[in-house]
Amino acid sequence: MGFLSVLSMAHKLVKERVSPGDIVIDATCGNGVDTLFLAELVGSRGAVYAFDIQEEALERTRQRLNDSAADAALHLVHASHADMVAHIPAEACGKAAAVMFNLGYLPGADQSVITTPDGTLAALEAALTVLRPSGILTVVLYPGHPGGAEEADAAVQWASALPQSVAQTILYRMAQKPEAPYLLAIEKR
Ligand SMILES: C[S@@+](CC[C@H](N)C(=O)[O-])C[C@H]1O[C@@H](n2cnc3c(N)ncnc32)[C@H](O)[C@@H]1O
Repeated sequence: MGFLSVLSMAHKLVKERVSPGDIVIDATCGNGVDTLFLAELVGSRGAVYAFDIQEEALERTRQRLNDSAADAALHLVHASHADMVAHIPAEACGKAAAVMFNLGYLPGADQSVITTPDGTLAALEAALTVLRPSGILTVVLYPGHPGGAEEADAAVQWASALPQSVAQTILYRMAQKPEAPYLLAIEKR
């Protein structure tokens, strides 16, 4: 039967914690797969903030949602996820039910435009601030591409150092394939 893929596991953890009407964030919208997933979960009363530093990713995401029946309020933000606090309304800060990250580069685009350890760590801190208590943060990590292992290690070290009174953290990873993508998930207390 096999285990869930890391992307499916991320979706499962998010789906278990998000309800219609919630505020949610896609920190790396890329092709918009996670943005659409989040929009379908929160429905017409909910709001999705989707970040990317590439116009092309925002356009792909806009198109994917336009082609769908999802009717959540969609806010496409052309900015780094490290600055997410500045781009969501102050009253939404501390109220987000989920923040999803899928690190690395946009498939089929310039592979030099890529998430970086410094930006990712700043964004993870920001994500923890915008989450509500019991909100979920998921991070798909790619140790297989150049620089990816360092970025993944930095994210895991950051998460491991969080006091348990602040958050609970787990890893979902194939033990026999260290180069395969894996999932870091964090539930805020
Ligand atoms: C692996 S893709 C995301 C895939 C996406 N979640 C999906 O469902 O299709 C990674 C994305 O992160 C974006 N990215 C890189 N650095 C970023 C940053 N500092 N802030 C926001 N997005 C960034 C890239 O432009 C790229 O589109």
